[in-house]
Amino acid sequence: MKKFSIVIAGGGSTYTPEIILMLLDNLDRLPLRSIKLYDNDEERQNHVAKACEILIKEKDPTIQYVATTDPEVAYTDVDFVLAHIRVGKLEMRSLDEKIPLKYGVVGQETCGPGGMAYGLRSIPGVLENIEYMEKYSPNAWMLNYSNPASIVAEACRRFKPNSRVINICDMPIGMEHTIARILGFKSRKEMCIRYYGLNHFGWWTSIKDKDGKEYIQDLIAHQLKYGNCLADDDASYYTDSSWFDTAKKVKDIIAIDPTMCPNSYFQYYLFGDDMVAHTDPNYTRADQVVDTREKRVFGECARIEKVGTAKDTTLQIGIHAEFIVDLATALAFNTHERMLLIVPNNGAISNFEKDAMVEIPCIVGKDGYEPLTVGEIPHFQKGLMEQQVNCEKLVVDAYEQHSYLKMLQALTLNKCVPNANVARKILDDFIEANKAYWPELK
Ligand code: NAD
Ligand code: LMR
Repeated sequence: MKKFSIVIAGGGSTYTPEIILMLLDNLDRLPLRSIKLYDNDEERQNHVAKACEILIKEKDPTIQYVATTDPEVAYTDVDFVLAHIRVGKLEMRSLDEKIPLKYGVVGQETCGPGGMAYGLRSIPGVLENIEYMEKYSPNAWMLNYSNPASIVAEACRRFKPNSRVINICDMPIGMEHTIARILGFKSRKEMCIRYYGLNHFGWWTSIKDKDGKEYIQDLIAHQLKYGNCLADDDASYYTDSSWFDTAKKVKDIIAIDPTMCPNSYFQYYLFGDDMVAHTDPNYTRADQVVDTREKRVFGECARIEKVGTAKDTTLQIGIHAEFIVDLATALAFNTHERMLLIVPNNGAISNFEKDAMVEIPCIVGKDGYEPLTVGEIPHFQKGLMEQQVNCEKLVVDAYEQHSYLKMLQALTLNKCVPNANVARKILDDFIEANKAYWPELK
């Protein structure tokens, strides 16, 4: 069987070791000859680089390994680029969240105003990595899960329309693990789902078993009572207590439209006031991630490096990362796997903009993806999506035209921002904070 070569772009990410464990656990499905880490910050990548080398050597010493900051070394002779970069790192995520909070607005790092700021930073970083791939390995595929995924995907559609880039997100998969538990399936793979929306902004409309039996009404009834968690779940089941709160909040979200099951990120757009009331403006999600995931992963990587073995490691396979192997396998072996991807709408949602990047089920094979049709969507969902998609398009306009006005319009249109005065204040603070990253807006 052919063996593949992979580069992980954003090698210094806290998710890298879990993704490597996932790759090593799936070598029977996706045989590998080389794994490379690439980051533009050597110091950060060094937190995980040595531990990843040990993980790989102990599992399969025939796999070549290198951690590098040289794009040519990283991108030469690769079949797949797994891209999860965070331009500005968690320090900037912290400001994306805290600046809006100064004005009583939820920051939200993907679809809220924080995501608009992050988008303007991410676009050039992602485009730069696509260019490296096209220069050094033009036949490779990039599986991109760098956030904010919708804005990044819109920039790919506009500036790199012919590139071999597939935009994907693990968020629906995370929720589907819980949905499977609620409905009594052994695994989410036993479910055949229908979902539509934008990234971090969509709804499940059907969940069927292998025989075609529909479960969506059971799930709606359950979520109306408990949210997206089991009746007897407690916080210990979740990676941290805020994810448990998020799962419970689905109860309030679905009450607004009990005909389909919402992504839990709607808590930020529909209940921004509740989120602000429960957020410490000096300690946001970015601080939690640094104090929990980053501390845990970097600490364990340092321990592995010190003892020289990963035999007793507490690092776990990233189950959310399984979609990466599924997607790479589908492209490599033409499996026609059905997966949720972020793709140009092109009429799939018949009453929605053709050139919007939507998250819908697609069939994936060796030539890429073929989206499934969704049909017409109702007014409530359409209204929310139109507001959001136009806000995201305006961010990409602002990047393209270096336009202050477009960015002001994007923030004014954002559902989390109450009015244009507040939008302008947030924008002016963002400009100051992002001097090292944003184009100069005129
Ligand atoms: P992180 O800050 O821990 O790691 C990101 C790494 O990217 C850093 O080491 C940074 O130096 C590097 N980087 C920044 N700009 C780069 C560039 N131009 N080229 C190469 N490397 C660059 O971040 P994280 O919390 O691990 O998140 C990584 C990314 O994955 C983020 O975009 C995050 O939002 C996204 N994410 C996606 C999903 C998903 O499935 N969609 C899930 C979780 C996180
Ligand atoms: C992230 O990028 O880290 C988020 O998508 C998830 C989180 O932990 O807040």
